[in-house]
Formats: sequence, C-alpha cells, structure tokens
Amino acid sequence: MHYVTRRETFSAAHRLYNPDFSDEENEQIYGKCSNPNWHGHNYTLEVVVAGEIDRKTGYVIDLKKLKEIIIENVIKKVDHKNLNTETDFMRGIIPTAENIAAAIYKQLVNKIPSGKLYAIKIYETENNYFEYKGE
Ligand code: NI
Repeated sequence: MHYVTRRETFSAAHRLYNPDFSDEENEQIYGKCSNPNWHGHNYTLEVVVAGEIDRKTGYVIDLKKLKEIIIENVIKKVDHKNLNTETDFMRGIIPTAENIAAAIYKQLVNKIPSGKLYAIKIYETENNYFEYKGE
C-alpha cells in the first residue's frame, strides 16, 4: 500500500466554548482558547490518501487534482475565516483540532478520485497534532 500526503496551511479564528457549560466551566476547561473575543491559529492540514499505483500513470493520485479538491472543499471555507461563525461544515461543532480534523475528513471522504482517504492530520501548534482516520 502506498500513502500520498498533500500539505496545506490556513489561518483561522475560533473560540472554544460549550453553551452547556457555565462561563466559569468554559474558562476552566478551555482556558485562553475560550476568550470571548476570538483568537487565531496558523493551522497545517495534511491529507493522506492510500492506494495502489495506477499502472498507466504511475500515480496513486494526481496531487494537482488532490490539491484542487482540498482548496475547493476545505481551504476556501476556513482560511482567514472564523470557524465558529463562518465555516458551514463546522456549524454547531466546538472547533477543537480533533473536531476540525473529523469535519475535514467528512468533507473530503467522498471526493477523492482515486485511492482512499486514509487520514486527516491537523497541526494547531508546533507541538500538537491531531489525526483522524474515520469512524
Ligand atoms: Ni485556540
């Protein structure tokens, strides 16, 4: 099995806040990430496609096509946006990196033209990354 990865970056604002918790609980659980006036991260997204090599092209997937699919379905909806209020596929979802990874997976899983979506990785800081491989 071959694994092909495309990396993209985006900058986005968010606030971690669960309306079921009190303001104090939100502050306790999410700390600075619960700031009511938003804050931003420079995210790195990695999309990993697994598959066999196509005999004719020598590719698992054409990375140019994969890039276009990621830009169209994800990056245009998140880059320089507020994930809580502007990104349709994040509506009603607390924008933790775990949830962002799962939502991006759902955005892309049925749009991969060859091979199969294997994993979504989100880097929120240099030291933390989050990986989702489906249900
Ligand atoms: Ni944050």
